[in-house]
Amino acid sequence: MKDENIFTKKLDNKYREPALEIDFKEFDKVVRSRRSVRVFKDELISDEDVHKAIDHALLAPNSSNLQPWEFHIVKSSAAKKELAKYCFSQNGARTASHIIVCVAKTNTWKKHCHEMLNSFKKAGEDVPPVVEQYYKKIAPAAYGMMGPFGILSPFKWLLLNTIGLFQVMARGPVWPSDLRTWAVKSCALGCENIMLSLRAQGHDSLPMEGLDEKRVKKMLKLGRHDHIVMAIAAGNRSEDGVYGPQVRFPREWFVHEH
Ligand SMILES: Cc1cc2nc3c(=O)[nH]c(=O)nc-3n(C[C@H](O)[C@H](O)[C@H](O)COP(=O)(O)O)c2cc1C
Repeated sequence: MKDENIFTKKLDNKYREPALEIDFKEFDKVVRSRRSVRVFKDELISDEDVHKAIDHALLAPNSSNLQPWEFHIVKSSAAKKELAKYCFSQNGARTASHIIVCVAKTNTWKKHCHEMLNSFKKAGEDVPPVVEQYYKKIAPAAYGMMGPFGILSPFKWLLLNTIGLFQVMARGPVWPSDLRTWAVKSCALGCENIMLSLRAQGHDSLPMEGLDEKRVKKMLKLGRHDHIVMAIAAGNRSEDGVYGPQVRFPREWFVHEH
């Protein structure tokens, strides 16, 4: 192929993974029956079920497979009580069996680049040259080159946009806030997996961004590279736990074909 680059090169390996048969009706049921539950029954769901949901979060697609996330399970009565207070004492938080605080991380990408390369070594395989190039050169250029507190970001912006005048070019992340958006995207996909997994296991959830981020971070000993995406209250829905029918605006407002 003319103009071949790292993104167009096809990995020539022997790995095959056939697509499994899926029961679409069951999937549809899971998606449609997930509701934001504001009051949970006064009963605990098992730690095992919560961990299964977290395992599903860890399987979410994520940028460059750098897994920029962390999930904190809050389950002791004392910790839940404190956390619920920081979630403005919302009923969903106060009555939850477990609360999972989902955190996007902006300081793990370098270590995880090394881990991606290590994963080949651990499997006793050679690192394919495109993969080596990606995690040693492309990813550090994409997610780095900002300097502490973004002092180099203006130069990165200028570089990307100058090259971008002449060719198709990645335009970011440029600023530290872009890196936060980058990590939040992947973490949010993990969050959705948690909520769908809980539903598929017969449980319910409430995503909450209504919280005092500073206090929650202090409670969980999180640092400045940790960004709370949401806390997810988990439990079994109380009879009056869903406040009304699901409301969505007309489909044509949001869906466009080109
Ligand atoms: C990121 C995010 C944050 C949310 N924060 C809260 C919250 O703090 N409290 C709350 O009651 N609901 C919260 N929600 C739930 C939304 O209000 C709810 O998803 C929306 O009204 C649609 O209802 P449904 O989830 O039942 O379809 C949040 C949802 C998302 C995705």
